[in-house]
Formats: sequence, structure tokens, C-alpha cells
Amino acid sequence: MPPSRPLPPAADAVRPLIWPRPGGAGASNDREAFDTEFAALAQRRGFRVEPLGVALGHRILLATRRPEAGAERQLLIAAGFHGEEPAGPWGVLEFLRVAPDALLERVTLGVVPLVNATGFAAGRRFNARGENPNRGYDPAIADECLSAEGAVLLGQRERVLAAARDGLLCCHEDEGVQAAYVYALEPAETPGRFSRGLVETMARFFPLVPDGQVDGCPVADGLVYNRHDGSFESWAVRHGVPAAATVETPGRADFAQRVAAQAALMTTFVELRAPG
Ligand code: NI
Repeated sequence: MPPSRPLPPAADAVRPLIWPRPGGAGASNDREAFDTEFAALAQRRGFRVEPLGVALGHRILLATRRPEAGAERQLLIAAGFHGEEPAGPWGVLEFLRVAPDALLERVTLGVVPLVNATGFAAGRRFNARGENPNRGYDPAIADECLSAEGAVLLGQRERVLAAARDGLLCCHEDEGVQAAYVYALEPAETPGRFSRGLVETMARFFPLVPDGQVDGCPVADGLVYNRHDGSFESWAVRHGVPAAATVETPGRADFAQRVAAQAALMTTFVELRAPG
């Protein structure tokens, strides 16, 4: 494992981004409330929760639900890589609240609800050491460091890749924009039903970014397609995961709407990757 190298302080010297949760339920960075609600919902929906490891004093959890009858597909949802993108983790909770039993029965579903717990509590993108938890997974990209969280995920690579064997959804936000987009990776030259289906769900909630460039990547029809970088999702696809996507809800849109969109995207992800 390459050593983790802190970024210069200026890289994360921005104000924290925190939103009120709807209905007076507290703030988007309330990690204690998040942990409590996640534990209750995971238990209620029949998930078994196990730690993948500890990063900067916080356990990274993997919750897994296996239908009694068994399931031929194994899918993984991962959220909370970036601390100023809280609609992903809260979207996981909303998904666990509303997902129909019949949907959950179609696959073996793994959920990593919160990767970067210190960033989440601070409302800041990077972890408490100033590391980016979604970079450094590709050792060939020498100027990126692997974060403490990345070291946990790569340290459990067999479990993580088995959980994502038939598909991976990573739940992010772009704090600087009012429109949405999706990164997708599929083994085909042009985007298929998986990529398009996620964009269609996103478009039910937000305008899509215009064609051109977003975050330094070419984007068309709301989609950045088959871009390989040092991210977790790119790593997963290079290690055999057949379809992966990173959804980016717009950080300047209404928080409740972002949470609802994230939950809907999780539903669409399972529907698109479930058999038949
Ligand atoms: Ni992000």
C-alpha cells in the first residue's frame, strides 16, 4: 500500500458545506444520527452489518442483504466518499426506508453507507488528514495518494469486489453546480441501457449539465462515459466489475430533492442490474 501523503492545507481550506435535513431532523453532518438511523434501518430491512475496517478512528461498514431464496446477482452501493456530498449517505437511508421488499428480493445487495466519516462530520470534501478518499486506487497514477479510507477498501479487495461482482453504484454530488450528471463505465464503445437508465432517472429530478465539459471531462447527454482515473469505481471496473456508475447530484439544488434523487437512483441501479 503506498503511504498516504497529506495534501497541502490550501487544497481543503474551504468553508464546510452543511444543510438542514427536512422536517427539523438536524443537520446533514450529524454523524451520530446517521449511524443510529442506519443501524436501525439495516436491521429492519434484513441486512447483516459488518465492518470492513477502521479509517481515522471510524469503522467503514458493509451491510449485506441476501434473499432467502438466494440471488444470482451481487450488487454494491457505496456512498459518502466526499464529506461535502451528504445526499449520498442520507439517500442510502431513504432507499432503505422506501425500497420495496420485492426489489430487495431480486439481488444480493451490499451497501457501504459512509466511506469518509471524518469528512462527513466536518462537511468537508476530504478526510481529517486532507486526503481524497476517491483517489489513489490506481498505483500507476503516481501523483495521487491513497487515503486512509482507500487503504481499508483495498485491504478488503476480495470482499469488496465480490460484493460488486455484477455492478457498482457510487453516490456523489457536485457542490459547484445546479445541474446533474453521471459517470458510467460499461464494456461497450457506446453507452448502454445501464448508463442511459441512470441518466433518465437523474433527469426526473434535475436539469442535466449541458454538453461540453464537466469537472474536466467531456460530457454528452448528461453522461461522462468510460473515463478511467484513480477513482474507486475505475479501479473496480479494471478488476472485473462489469458495470459501474458514479451519480452526481447538484450541490446547489434543494437538499431534500437531492436525497430523494439519490434514493431513486439506487432503485434504478438495482432494477437495471437485477436479472431478467
Ligand atoms: Ni464526490
